[in-house]
Amino acid sequence: MTMNMYLQLQEINRRPALFEHYTAAELWTDEHTSSKMLDHHLNGSSDFSSRNTEFVERSVSWIVRRFGLAENKSVADFGCGPGLYTTRLAASGADITGIDFSERSLRYARERAQSNGMSIDYVCSNYLDFESDKRFDLITLIMCDFCALSPDQRRALLDKFLVHLKEGGTVLLDVYSLRAFDSREEHATYAHNLLDGFWSSAPYFGFLTTFKYGSEKVVLDKYTIVEERRVRTIYNWLQYFSVEALSAELEGRGFVVNDVVGDVAGATVDPEAHEFAIVARKPVDV
Ligand SMILES: C[S@@+](CC[C@H](N)C(=O)[O-])C[C@H]1O[C@@H](n2cnc3c(N)ncnc32)[C@H](O)[C@@H]1O
Repeated sequence: MTMNMYLQLQEINRRPALFEHYTAAELWTDEHTSSKMLDHHLNGSSDFSSRNTEFVERSVSWIVRRFGLAENKSVADFGCGPGLYTTRLAASGADITGIDFSERSLRYARERAQSNGMSIDYVCSNYLDFESDKRFDLITLIMCDFCALSPDQRRALLDKFLVHLKEGGTVLLDVYSLRAFDSREEHATYAHNLLDGFWSSAPYFGFLTTFKYGSEKVVLDKYTIVEERRVRTIYNWLQYFSVEALSAELEGRGFVVNDVVGDVAGATVDPEAHEFAIVARKPVDV
């Protein structure tokens, strides 16, 4: 029994190989956590799973202006959540598609579109598997979701963007910077009902072990949630980027980098900031 517990604690504290598991669905689509996430999305003063309302509104105004959104334009928002951006972008008259694998968030987004009399195409899918005959002027991936993907997944997603963009179409995405990587530290902690019951409505012990992968600039927050009858491990990977590394990834798949900005509201790049955003174009002959 004692040995068993020792081995279990050893497993909880084991550093996995880089991007060994992808558990984003358990974080976002689980019955309990998706409801907690939706509360965070809809809390207009928090920056937890969506940014605060003031930022979202500023961002949407910038996106509409920067990309000339109007009736003749089409936008796909990958990881649209409950539609904080899509609902507002639709007011420009552009044709809007939102893709997300959280049924709960999409249900909210659809209801909101319906009550506003808006026609927005919401697709419940893992965006890594998204397929459509539509071709878009703009693809967005907002709130550093690109950072949660492995190098292979990022390559596949960029290729998917290329397929689904019109010639000359643009992608806008934001990422965490190397400054943010420097601010992270390895540690291990546990608590009863860690994060105030975020992980389950039943009582649990939650272990959080944070690992840094120095040369790859990756951080893993590994959560092990121990309930009376089940144990789950959720791996939250984050890749941190320099402007050069992110540009090289996009250029390596055939994009042309147009612009590097401080955030998806068009701020000036700040070398001390924890995030930045990139605007890249599919060239006309790809
Ligand atoms: C950090 S939230 C950002 C939501 C939205 N972009 C915003 O800023 O309000 C990430 C969103 O991406 C979705 N998501 C994460 N990984 C996904 C995947 N592989 N396929 C589809 N949706 C995904 C989550 O369900 C969640 O709604």
